[in-house]
Amino acid sequence: MTSYEQLFENNKKWIASMKARDVDFFEKLAKNQAPEYLYIGCSDSRVPANEIMGLEPGEVFVHRNIANVVANIDLNVMSVINYAVANLHVQHIIVCGHYNCGGVRAAMMPHDMGILNPWLRNIRDVYRLHQSELDMITDEHERYNRLVELNVQEQALNVIKTAVVQKSYLKNRYPTVHGWVFDLKTGELKDLKINFTKALQDIQKIYDLTGEF
Ligand code: CO
Repeated sequence: MTSYEQLFENNKKWIASMKARDVDFFEKLAKNQAPEYLYIGCSDSRVPANEIMGLEPGEVFVHRNIANVVANIDLNVMSVINYAVANLHVQHIIVCGHYNCGGVRAAMMPHDMGILNPWLRNIRDVYRLHQSELDMITDEHERYNRLVELNVQEQALNVIKTAVVQKSYLKNRYPTVHGWVFDLKTGELKDLKINFTKALQDIQKIYDLTGEF
């Protein structure tokens, strides 16, 4: 059996194990989804969303891309946020980065990365926004770690800047937005403890999108 064929064997075993726990598992799964969380994370294979949070199928709506970027003209992430908030009514939106992120690493190197240039620009802009703090850090690895955290912070802010999040929060008092970093070396999730209400307040002057034109 090739490693590729093994995947289907794995699938059969997984089905059996899920049914062993709950005979009607797939029947219930097929009915609807009502996840409490939207998770926006990195595509990195070492950061599997459900596993690190101990969540089952149906419990988290997931969007992943290189370096967990929330770019406001990216129809993909914007559609995910809109659907998760307006239709699924998620209570929490989590932006989760991770240390040793290749995307953030690449953004720290001033080179032509071809098609990745416009994507990495989002992270290079985070660096520029926080340049005074970052350039004070002499240890390169520490600076890299800090950029990972600041990138999460800025991408979480980008989520807060969306009209759908602001309008839903005004009406329902949810969702709240969180920023986390996953540590590959320990498996631990670190909560950056972004003060959501303060962040929302702070951006009002420029980004308040709750009113009509
Ligand atoms: Co990454």
